[in-house]
Amino acid sequence: MDKFVITGGTDLNGEIAISGSKNSALPALAAALLTDEPVTLRRIPRVRDIRTMERLLVDIGSQLDEDDEAVRLHTPNIVSPEAPYELVKTMRASSLVLGPLVARCGRARVSAPGGCAIGSRPINLHIFGLERLGAKINQTHGYIEAEAPDGLRGAVVHFDRITVTGTEDLMMAAVLAQGETVLRNAAREPEVVDLAALLTKMGAKIEGAGTSDIRIEGVERLGGADHTIIPDRIEAGTYLVAGAITGGDVTVTGCVPEHVGALVSQLQQAGVDVTQPGGESLRVRGGGKIRSVDMTTEEYPGFATDLQAQYMALMTQGDGIAVIVENIFENRFMHAQELGRMGANIRINGRQAMVAGPRQLTGAGVIASDLRASASLVLAALVARGETVIDRVYHIDRGYEKIETKLAQVGANIRRVE
Ligand code: EPZ
Repeated sequence: MDKFVITGGTDLNGEIAISGSKNSALPALAAALLTDEPVTLRRIPRVRDIRTMERLLVDIGSQLDEDDEAVRLHTPNIVSPEAPYELVKTMRASSLVLGPLVARCGRARVSAPGGCAIGSRPINLHIFGLERLGAKINQTHGYIEAEAPDGLRGAVVHFDRITVTGTEDLMMAAVLAQGETVLRNAAREPEVVDLAALLTKMGAKIEGAGTSDIRIEGVERLGGADHTIIPDRIEAGTYLVAGAITGGDVTVTGCVPEHVGALVSQLQQAGVDVTQPGGESLRVRGGGKIRSVDMTTEEYPGFATDLQAQYMALMTQGDGIAVIVENIFENRFMHAQELGRMGANIRINGRQAMVAGPRQLTGAGVIASDLRASASLVLAALVARGETVIDRVYHIDRGYEKIETKLAQVGANIRRVE
């Protein structure tokens, strides 16, 4: 298993280019199942989760070829409308093929995603929505079997809690349903809007993506499309925090500033100088004192849960007590213990974490647990005195393209050890 060896203490200076969004690429790849025409997707990040999804699509029946420019998918026929346990256990977002498969061929057999480090993460709302659209669902032997031999019918689906991939799954199911579907209390994340943009290019009729009410008028069939994925807002946010925590001067380029609006506001409240030099870039200049500022995670456009761990790392350098509340997942503070081993002073109480600063962190041997927790350990290591060795960095490789290369380019002392 690869490790990262990081020696802290250097401030980061320079520009970091942001890759395409993993969480936009995953539903976009699944959407290619909805048509028998070729779909071209650009700015797909080369990360593990994407390779897992591509493997799943090929098993289902997609022809795939890719180069530096794009991933091209063509699914003339669905050979096997299945997502087997072996794949789903490595990536729960495989459930994103559920909606497209039922819509395209009237049936799907998808392994129920097991538990996850950050929480139980059921997909009951995905199932509820498909049943509302007329699918018959049977859950047996760890698999979800969905059938809609006569096709799906539009309906009102009211989510009792906001779910990002639930919204995406149901949007993809509804585009080929007979009649109109309304998704109520839908997720408003930019990745949902990006998926709607791709589906619309394919011929779908969707209104309201990005709001809580999304209307989809079903159509007979969808065609191919050529679509460029939005930049990864979580990657962008992670590198903004890297600039802030090291007191450096970092500009992230090729991002969408409004997608990280809540983080920018939080950093500015914490006394970090964040400016927008251009339409697709944000610049962080640290060096001043970091103020401890409370934060609560919320669905978009609130503060993203995927940036909570990174913010916690920053707050270890704050000038007082910061109370962080994690509202989205029930167990997303695992990074706190590892940060504690580096000298952070964090108290967990249910969904609240109290971070006392400033603390001079010291390098230590730590273990990555989930994707974003691992990112927070990298950030802490950048500011810690001495050497940190982070084990199991495959968690980071799931969602960050060339993180050690991008950080080394702006002065970080980081190397990957096979
Ligand atoms: C997406 O996961 C992201 N993944 C996650 O990013 C992100 O943390 C999450 O949204 C929240 O923003 C992808 O887009 C591939 P949810 P998702 O359904 O869709 C509960 C990363 O690091 N819920 O919005 O699985 C659920 O348990 C990953 O890139 C139900 O109860 O998240 C959670 O508490 C981690 N029933 C809350 O809703 C359901 O049927 C939000 O989950 C679905 C969800």
